Amino acid sequence: MDRGYIYVNKKSFVKNLKYLSQISKKKICLVVKANAYGHGIKWSVRNAREAGVEWFAVASIDEGVQVKQEFKDSRVLLLAEPSVGQLDNILKNDLDLTVYSDSFIDALLDTGNEYSVHLKIDTGMHRIGCSPDKFDYLFKKINDSNLSLAGICTHFPSADTDKGDTQKSIDLFKNTISNVDKDNLLCHVDNSASTFYNLDESFNMVRIGIAAYGIEISPVESINKLLPTMEIKTRISNLQYRKKGEAVSYGKAKILERDSVIATSPIGYGDGYPWNTFPEGRVIVKNQFCKLIGRVTMDQILFDVTGLDVKVDDEVTILGQSDDGKLNISVSDIAKWNNTIEWEILTNMSKRLERVEVE
Ligand SMILES: Cc1ncc(COP(=O)(O)O)c(C=O)c1O
Repeated sequence: MDRGYIYVNKKSFVKNLKYLSQISKKKICLVVKANAYGHGIKWSVRNAREAGVEWFAVASIDEGVQVKQEFKDSRVLLLAEPSVGQLDNILKNDLDLTVYSDSFIDALLDTGNEYSVHLKIDTGMHRIGCSPDKFDYLFKKINDSNLSLAGICTHFPSADTDKGDTQKSIDLFKNTISNVDKDNLLCHVDNSASTFYNLDESFNMVRIGIAAYGIEISPVESINKLLPTMEIKTRISNLQYRKKGEAVSYGKAKILERDSVIATSPIGYGDGYPWNTFPEGRVIVKNQFCKLIGRVTMDQILFDVTGLDVKVDDEVTILGQSDDGKLNISVSDIAKWNNTIEWEILTNMSKRLERVEVE
């Protein structure tokens, strides 16, 4: 082991996807942006295809190309309008477009090419999407053109915290498209959170990200069926004895309250392990939690192993379970220590740590 490994668990990932497909009773569009939430786009696509997933959502053309390289016949949805200068690239790579602005649709029409598009309605997120009162006009404009309308969609602002607010968006969406013949259209509104409670059969696809990667965040009662798909392990790279009253790492942020044995591991914020993990954060060594004892640096962390029988090269669990299965560090734990969200922890995991598939 050089710095550490990110173990990505194929069996858990495939099980999660099959479970989500079973509870939603809808097609899954797997969101693989930001390196598939840190898991690797190609790995995610390969295994999702095994679970029967055909649609993937991305935030950049480059991400879409990676999906297509893995499986040419996958359908790939770019989640926002790109710059008009990229339209050739979209066509060449056969990507579906999310559209919502009149001027962008005009630019598509000017090319004379048959792009496949999903018309997005803003039902409350107020980030991108056409306003509901513009929907009929844009819908007709697309239908009267040589563009191919593949779907209609929206995105919820508070699906993970507020079921009532989400229902308002759903009602607005359904009301807005009520005159439309939806027979050959994909209607997709849900992210992971609302997939657990919006069982409305008017929709036929869900855009799932975080839940596929084993994290259940929803305002409804947790069903604990999802399996974590990522573990991070590293090693002890150095051991030192420090006296009470000394301090380690930048800023000498914590004065040692006792003579201590301090271990170092080669992982830091340059690998995506966040700086704010100190002072609350812990790692697991020899089936024991060990507290970080100094600030996280770009490439290394320091933690207290006083009283443990350890040596250089012993395994350190950054994320995941202890060997005896009794202790666990979850993505949510790391997010909490850092006062941030699970999505940010996963998507920041850098490519410096090698991904290794386990079953
Ligand atoms: C438009 C859109 N749909 C779906 C998702 C997936 O969200 P989640 O990871 O919560 O499932 C995202 C995530 O950012 C998104 O931007």
